[in-house]
Formats: sequence, structure tokens, C-alpha cells
Amino acid sequence: MTRHRLCAVAELAEAQARQFALPLAERSLDVFVVKWRGHLYAYINSCPHTGAGLNWVPHEFFDPDYQHLQCATHGALFRPDDGVCVWGPCAGQALSPVAVEIEDGTAYACI
Ligand code: FES
Repeated sequence: MTRHRLCAVAELAEAQARQFALPLAERSLDVFVVKWRGHLYAYINSCPHTGAGLNWVPHEFFDPDYQHLQCATHGALFRPDDGVCVWGPCAGQALSPVAVEIEDGTAYACI
């Protein structure tokens, strides 16, 4: 497992997301981290419906009400804290989580 620095925890406001391309052996992995109710959660940026990235606008993953993560392609809604789809064509499926570690105020993804 490799640890990748994401950002300082304080850089993310509540219900804000940020995406990253993490280097892997011969490609990169598109992930995003969200701050939700004081905790950070990270997911691979791939919708369980088609595998497409969720967002069309960089770093924008929340729905207009900032209650769920939303896929821009067909509108699926996901709970921020566990990635489960609660509405849309992939209801009941979930985003793939990425482990997050926090050390000295900095968030790291572990993949
Ligand atoms: S690609 Fe995400 S809902 Fe269809």
C-alpha cells in the first residue's frame, strides 16, 4: 500500500470536494476526497453505473443542495459518508472507497 498526500484537512470546507490524479505504476488513478460532517471520505472517481467519472466540472461532486454526491451523467445520488447510491440507475451499488489517513493535519490516500 502506498500513501499519497492529498491536502491539508483545513483546506477543505464542509461539503467541499477535491479531486486528485494519484500516480500508479503506468497510469494514474482519479480519486476525490470530500469533507462531510467533519470527516474526510475518499472514493475512486468512477460511477458504478457506467464507470464514467462523476463530475463534469473540476472538484464539483455535490448536488445543488449539498446533501449527496451526484453523478453528472445520469444524476445518481450517493451518500457522502459511505458512497452508497440512494437514487438513480445504480441505486444500491456504491462508489469504491479509498482509505484516508490523517497525520499532523494532512490527509493521505492509501492505495
Ligand atoms: S454514469 Fe453515473 S449515473 Fe449513469
